[in-house]
Amino acid sequence: MSAPMGKNRKNRGRNEEPTVVKFQDVNIFIVERKIQRVRFEHLKKLARRKGFRVADSIELDEDITHIVAELDHREDVLEAISSKLKASKDGQAIAERRLESAEVVCMDWFTACMEEQKPVEVKDEHRLKAKPKVVAICPSSEQIRNSGYQDARFACQRRTPLKHHNKLLTDALESLEKHAEFLGGDQNQSRALAFRKASAALKALPKPVRSMRDVQNLYDLRGGKHCKKVIQELIEDGFSTEIDNIREDKWFQTMEVFTGVFGCGAATSRKWYDKDLRTLKDVLDAPDVSLTKEQRKGVEFYDDLNTPVNRIEAEVIRDLVVEETERILPGTTVVITGGFIRGKESGHDVDLLMSHPEDGKEESLLAKLLKNLHKRELLEYTDIQNSSFTKEVLSRPAQARRSHLDHYERCFSIFRLPKHLIEQKKHTKKQNGSSDAETSAVKDIDDDSPAPKQMKLEQTNVDNRGVGTSESRSWVARRVDLIIAPASQYAYALMGWTGSRMFNRSIRDYANKEMNMTLTSHGLYDKVNFKSLPADTEEDIFNHLKLEYREPVDRNC
Ligand code: UTP
Ligand code: MN
Repeated sequence: MSAPMGKNRKNRGRNEEPTVVKFQDVNIFIVERKIQRVRFEHLKKLARRKGFRVADSIELDEDITHIVAELDHREDVLEAISSKLKASKDGQAIAERRLESAEVVCMDWFTACMEEQKPVEVKDEHRLKAKPKVVAICPSSEQIRNSGYQDARFACQRRTPLKHHNKLLTDALESLEKHAEFLGGDQNQSRALAFRKASAALKALPKPVRSMRDVQNLYDLRGGKHCKKVIQELIEDGFSTEIDNIREDKWFQTMEVFTGVFGCGAATSRKWYDKDLRTLKDVLDAPDVSLTKEQRKGVEFYDDLNTPVNRIEAEVIRDLVVEETERILPGTTVVITGGFIRGKESGHDVDLLMSHPEDGKEESLLAKLLKNLHKRELLEYTDIQNSSFTKEVLSRPAQARRSHLDHYERCFSIFRLPKHLIEQKKHTKKQNGSSDAETSAVKDIDDDSPAPKQMKLEQTNVDNRGVGTSESRSWVARRVDLIIAPASQYAYALMGWTGSRMFNRSIRDYANKEMNMTLTSHGLYDKVNFKSLPADTEEDIFNHLKLEYREPVDRNC
């Protein structure tokens, strides 16, 4: 899309430069209707700055070549111009003449010219059409199928691949989401969710958003004035001052560092900031801050835990766990879920879901597994949570705010991942001729992953490094979640732990609103017939819900 923003671009609007006409043959008239005054003036200035002629008067400028409008049809443009000229006695005739002699185009054409910094050819898709004589009332089911439900109401109905066409926009919306989460409180939580939903809607679109018309029908953007303003700025200018200000804000950057500490959420981070603490060293030195055991580990291994875990490392950890489960309970399945199963090449942790084909066999597995891993000195930290599952859990909706927490027996841990095993795995992968894409994951951080925090910190000259760096160790610290699910609930656990978080939220919302059912990571409960619906596979769950099956790689909303 647009070129990345240079620092000085932001100020251009304020200090206007003298403009030079570069394209004598083009004279643009922008129809003001449906465009806010400020934006209207901005568009004119922008075009002039890029060397275009922009007509101020449709009446006096006879050589207008392009009429640009944010309207749907030629008739609307004619009406808007005629009404502007109603004081003139042959206003209607002038308006008609202008429409005859110029191209009447949508904002996409204008945006493309601004991006390319020159007049681009008018294509048919740019031209505003006459109103159709017969208006189709609703799309046929065939049309809906062909569109892949990309503008369906619920994110779980849409195909949301990892790589999509609107990253500039979704990154911006996700910065707003994060900002709202950092601020905290119920109202900001709702705002955060609205930003997330808007971002999810854009991720499912089959092409880049070029004008506001491309998003006007999206369910999750209706009424979202704030989202729309930011989207509009980004498609027109390639940057948003609001987003830049948020990302450059000292408070926001410090909150990012503090919330990056394992075991430290937004509320604690805010408290630290309000005590004038700005770096992890400040936190460690503060006499009135006592850290939980989790947070102490979080600070100590800050650098390691904020370096994305890659797929090879995830596989090494899985292999270590499998070695032990095979000894303890042969036949146990150990699956890497979370972002990796959705195709991400890296993530913030490794989520391992374990189960045994025979219900109940899994019961003492976790304790034994942890004991063995401890013996091999592979664990730096463990926080074990016993199963809190009861039958009532099935019919009770997961609490809206903490919907990601389920009732399985699990362990939040920090693994000591031996470096030599990572090297070994890379080596065997190479020998086995695994694809370049797979091995390159070792070196490259996936586009969609956050940049390692240290890099950002160096840029901001804030000293936030953890106490220990991994150079002196033979292992790296990695966050691992171990989850135990009985076979009868496995499909539901797999779906829950596959995510994404937004996918879960959406499919649970869909189940409730459209099917009158309660979906959790433990099961699906039919509230009309008062019964739980068993599922052996994820496909079964989609079937129960009358939803088209979505592969994990298409659940990246
Ligand atoms: P993560 O937070 O690990 O997300 O939870 P992720 O998508 O794998 O992201 P990265 O790549 O690590 O950064 C994995 C999934 O597990 C669910 C979450 O909702 C998410 O979809 N989850 C998490 C549960 O179902 N229950 C929990 O208690 C915790
Ligand atoms: Mn994960």
